[in-house]
Amino acid sequence: MVASPWWFPIGREVAPQDLVGREPFLADVAARVRLGESLVICAPRRTGKTSVVREALRRLAGEGWLTAFADLMRHPSEPRLAEALTDAVLQNETGLHRTLERLRGAAATAAGLMQLSTKTDAGLEFALRFRAATPSLEDALEAGEMLAQRLGRRIAVVFDEFQSAPAIRADIYGFMRSILQRHQRSVYLFLGSQAGLLEQQFTRTHAPFFKFAIVRPLPDVPGEAWASYLHDRFAQAGHTVSPELCRALVARTGGHPHCTMVVANKVLMARSLQPDMAESALLELAYAAGLDDLSATYDEMYRGCASPPAAHAVLMRLAGGMPPYGEASGTPVRRALLALTDAAIVRRLDRGRYEFPEPMFADWLRRMQA
Ligand SMILES: Nc1ncnc2c1ncn2[C@@H]1O[C@H](COP(=O)(O)OP(=O)(O)OP(=O)(O)O)[C@@H](O)[C@H]1O
Ligand SMILES: [Mg+2]
Repeated sequence: MVASPWWFPIGREVAPQDLVGREPFLADVAARVRLGESLVICAPRRTGKTSVVREALRRLAGEGWLTAFADLMRHPSEPRLAEALTDAVLQNETGLHRTLERLRGAAATAAGLMQLSTKTDAGLEFALRFRAATPSLEDALEAGEMLAQRLGRRIAVVFDEFQSAPAIRADIYGFMRSILQRHQRSVYLFLGSQAGLLEQQFTRTHAPFFKFAIVRPLPDVPGEAWASYLHDRFAQAGHTVSPELCRALVARTGGHPHCTMVVANKVLMARSLQPDMAESALLELAYAAGLDDLSATYDEMYRGCASPPAAHAVLMRLAGGMPPYGEASGTPVRRALLALTDAAIVRRLDRGRYEFPEPMFADWLRRMQA
């Protein structure tokens, strides 16, 4: 993956050199995959699930693994997911995006077909097998395992945004499990942000994916890793800032990856425009500008918490540092807390104590209430 041309990449997959504090997690993921353990990786929105797993795939590919990545939110129907997954598998052999589309175009002419070069005869044969008809989802789910068998290699397959699976077909979990469970050369990684919903599929006794994969929550990026990355990155951008400013920035964002990158960019912007401004004022300005940029996302998050009915009130109480149970009776609050933790908007620390993985969202709520 090419280096980002931006000092602080925002809202997209980050390149390895900007992937802060993930080495221990990456090492753990790679070690488990090498041993054939399938994994569920869940974490709140915009905390780096996709970036970290893409990097794990790059490393595994460097060790000779075949890899495939399919985003279920991006391909929200059976034919689209089937096509995307088959393409992802074929890309190992053709090095091309959208091999199937190209093949269909090329099928009209023998010369066109000649342009299809693959690394192995098995790869060519395999690509041509999918030329005639759009693959079914079953074909697509079998594709990686079949290619791995033919080549005597192993394959790591990622399903990103796995919580969107039921929108693709109602029985998707049982359907997928019945196919994937027979595979000997494939390891699967399931990513998602709705930890509760996702985990249930793998931990409940009667759920289709029970015990199929091990649940690995993505840990927080350590504050020190953030502070030292920010300090170096500001220096590379030609702006020397103190280590204290970097630590204070991380304290304000709670080290939430997306928020930290947003505020860091604002510091850079404010520094360029007002080079003589004192650091404390600079951080305040950058934080306010960052919060302003995030407000559309937060508005959406807030509106997404409209149900169950007590959720908004509970959110406000938690943001205000109050215990969740106010005058409202137990059951509605319990339901609201369950929904908010399932959606990873808040996380439970211990009995009756919750925190926001994204403290800037809590701040936004407080300011909205004020
Ligand atoms: N380890 C990290 N180091 C630096 N920045 C990160 C890291 N993880 C995430 N980010 C920041 O968060 C943004 C989102 O990263 P990414 O898309 O990988 O997260 P995600 O959890 O997959 O998000 P989503 O919930 O939207 O799928 C990145 O563009 C970057 O700004
Ligand atoms: Mg993602």
